[in-house]
Amino acid sequence: MSSAFEPHNIIVTGGCGFIGSNFVRWVAQNHPEVHVTVLDKLTYAGNPENIAGLPESQVELVVGDICDADLLDRIVPGHDAIVHYAAESHNDNSIRDPEPFVQTNVVGTYRLLEAVRKYGIRYHHVSTDEVYGDLALDEPRRFRPDDPYKPSSPYSSTKASSDLLVRAWARTYGIHATISNCSNNYGPYQHVEKFIPRQVTNILCGIRPKLYGTGENVRDWIHTEDHSRAVWDILTKGRIGETYLIGANGEKSNIEVLREILSLMGQPEDAFDWVRDRPGHDRRYAIDPTKLEEELGWRPIHTDFAEGLQQTIKWYEDHEGWWRPAKEATERKYAEQGQ
Ligand code: NAD
Ligand code: TYD
Repeated sequence: MSSAFEPHNIIVTGGCGFIGSNFVRWVAQNHPEVHVTVLDKLTYAGNPENIAGLPESQVELVVGDICDADLLDRIVPGHDAIVHYAAESHNDNSIRDPEPFVQTNVVGTYRLLEAVRKYGIRYHHVSTDEVYGDLALDEPRRFRPDDPYKPSSPYSSTKASSDLLVRAWARTYGIHATISNCSNNYGPYQHVEKFIPRQVTNILCGIRPKLYGTGENVRDWIHTEDHSRAVWDILTKGRIGETYLIGANGEKSNIEVLREILSLMGQPEDAFDWVRDRPGHDRRYAIDPTKLEEELGWRPIHTDFAEGLQQTIKWYEDHEGWWRPAKEATERKYAEQGQ
């Protein structure tokens, strides 16, 4: 069943986080006819500045928790879709304290699904390729939508749980839902706890970048704007009940990415520290985006990683006031765990 869907009034959960806020800005710029209600708890990872300056007539912020069923009863009626980004999103945090991950990622998704069922609106679920576990460094295979779920970390297992709830609610209750699993995003507004912003802001602060383990682990990088366009395409043209994988053929080892950052920032290629590896560290992620490309005609625009990385570095150079308040506490937490 094809579902051409024209949204008018959507809720974007987690719209003050990294990827959610990039999506909200993308919708504001490209679909001014669509009203966006951002529902965000403003955890350590949520920052209202990420959506500042957008027209008030188009983007409204509701500060609240997706686990709050009464709040959902108040705000969901009148909207025609929920695009669900809100999550606890960082693997290292999930290893230190899994509880908020179970609460927000699993219980929070359950509450949203119940609201979607009650009010009969469309739902798009934003998830990660990490639900599929990891691949060997040398195997040609890439993740495909029907691969078995084999998550490794508390983070990825709670995201996998949430995906399975969506699949069950679609099949059993017939809710109109789609799921996307995307690879590692980079771009502006990413929290300094994550790999690329951490290394860039370390260099800007005169701290040596930190590489986990052997540095051979591979991630499949995609610019967050390409992710936003893919989510929009799936929301408006995707088939109900389907899973789409989003990736831009951006496989690189961590040490390659770090060397690229060092070179773009005028540092010697060995100016970094090797630190303790992440327990259970996934070796490699890689997405086969054929279904998204062939069914919906999506293609990435940001295909030059060095150029995207250079623009991202420039963004952090130009927005010290945005990242500086989170930097010290983030590095303190990493130092406590030898990373
Ligand atoms: P983020 O940590 O930057 O942002 C998460 C946002 O959710 C924050 O604004 C936070 O305040 C909000 N939030 C957290 N708990 C909440 C709750 N209980 N109620 C309401 N709001 C809450 O995360 P991100 O990197 O932007 O990731 C967004 C989504 O994309 C997540 O679902 C993540 O699993 C998925 N994803 C991320 C990546 C990546 O590379 N970062 C890749 C694929 C998929
Ligand atoms: P991260 O940005 O946490 O994303 P994910 O765990 O979802 O892939 O990390 C990306 C890769 O970089 C991952 O293999 C872990 C590694 N890494 C480092 O080597 N050093 C760091 O300081 C961080 C934060 C991550």
